[in-house]
Amino acid sequence: MAASALRRTPVAAPAGVARLLDGVRDDNRPVLLDEHVRLYGPLEPAADLVATLESSGLRGRGGGAFPVGQKLAAVAAQRGRPVVVVNATEGEPASSKDRALLRLVPHLVLDGAAAAAAAIGAREIVVGLARGRSNERDALVAALKERRDRARWSVKAVTDGFVAGEETALLNALSGKEPKPTMKPPYPFERGLRGAPTLVQNVETLAHVALIARFGARWFRSVGTEAEPGTALVTLSGAVRRPGVYEIELGTRVSELIEQAGGATETLSAFLVGGYFGGWTRDAAHPLTVAGGLGAGVVVAFPADACGVRESARVTRYLANESAGQCGPCVHGLAALASGLEEIAAGKTSDRRLHLARWAQQVTARGACRHPDGAARFVNSTLTVFEEELALHLRTGRCRGRDRGVLPVGSRRG
Ligand SMILES: Cc1cc2nc3c(=O)[nH]c(=O)nc-3n(C[C@H](O)[C@H](O)[C@H](O)COP(=O)(O)O)c2cc1C
Ligand code: SF4
Repeated sequence: MAASALRRTPVAAPAGVARLLDGVRDDNRPVLLDEHVRLYGPLEPAADLVATLESSGLRGRGGGAFPVGQKLAAVAAQRGRPVVVVNATEGEPASSKDRALLRLVPHLVLDGAAAAAAAIGAREIVVGLARGRSNERDALVAALKERRDRARWSVKAVTDGFVAGEETALLNALSGKEPKPTMKPPYPFERGLRGAPTLVQNVETLAHVALIARFGARWFRSVGTEAEPGTALVTLSGAVRRPGVYEIELGTRVSELIEQAGGATETLSAFLVGGYFGGWTRDAAHPLTVAGGLGAGVVVAFPADACGVRESARVTRYLANESAGQCGPCVHGLAALASGLEEIAAGKTSDRRLHLARWAQQVTARGACRHPDGAARFVNSTLTVFEEELALHLRTGRCRGRDRGVLPVGSRRG
């Protein structure tokens, strides 16, 4: 697909697939404001950004895939002065795309937040950044010093952790409370930070907003597919020659992404698509789409001599440990799923597989947030895709694969 029919603007819109990463240079220094404006043109007030976003088809890139225009419209329809919160927590251990944007092209993210704030009548923008991310913080603070926005900005450090990025957990952390999710409704768009209608948007989502505000919905749709327009960032890791953050046109196949990264370094047996809330596939022709499971944009190329059962057991234990510890089905269910997979991996049981599928079903939609749903999806796909390996573990107590630590698990940094 080629980019076409670009809206006339003082600066040419990026014509290829490198849109968000168009300005990134080899020395990996942040793009300064004057370079940013030279590249994309100044951010002018968009006539009707909410409608433009609706027709662009942009979906959130933080994992939930919610239509962005619809969310802005919902916040704007509330009574009271809204607030914009930039979700810069990126708690998924296999993801680094939001950090890359913050570090390398901070003005793109800030433009998106400023444009969204102007569109919904917000004057305050709060960036919630996970604690310890000093490079990203420095890039943001330096970028904010260069700008003359009307909005009131603040960059706040919040607790690191997988669940801390859930929007109500983030809002609680920003209010000085424990970073734990709360039951919805009310949703943040109804009552969020200090009770105000709050637009919570992922870093990458806002970077796309910055470009759609300049170049329009038609330009955004000029790459990708009809159902899934535009580009997305993917953090690619595992057995590939050049792991890293890639910008792809939506609909790209896993094999094409791996080719872009210089190919596989060894024989692959599977791909994890969508990170730890996503799922496994053996299909290299699997198309990458946000609503179709790409989630927060993670792909792991899994080598054939690694054990999918052991590595998945380790991730499931990590997800169980990351539970915010307040909903019974999540606390007990995820721990049981992790123990079950660990027992199978260690060859200590011969009949746990069927229980796991039932337990995964029982934890789904039973928490204050979607953490158990994501973990259950991951376990279910492990049961399906590594069926043969599981059968071998159950029958003989082991398989030929090893736990090579292909799937990273983070540790809380306070
Ligand atoms: C357990 C859990 C963890 C999450 N972690 C993140 C995260 O690290 N970053 C993020 O942007 N969204 C995260 N989300 C999604 C947010 O709740 C929210 O949907 C998102 O920030 C909205 O932005 P978007 O619509 O632009 O994606 C998480 C959701 C859940 C259930
Ligand atoms: S579902 Fe789990 S992670 Fe989510 S709020 Fe409840 S205990 Fe915490």
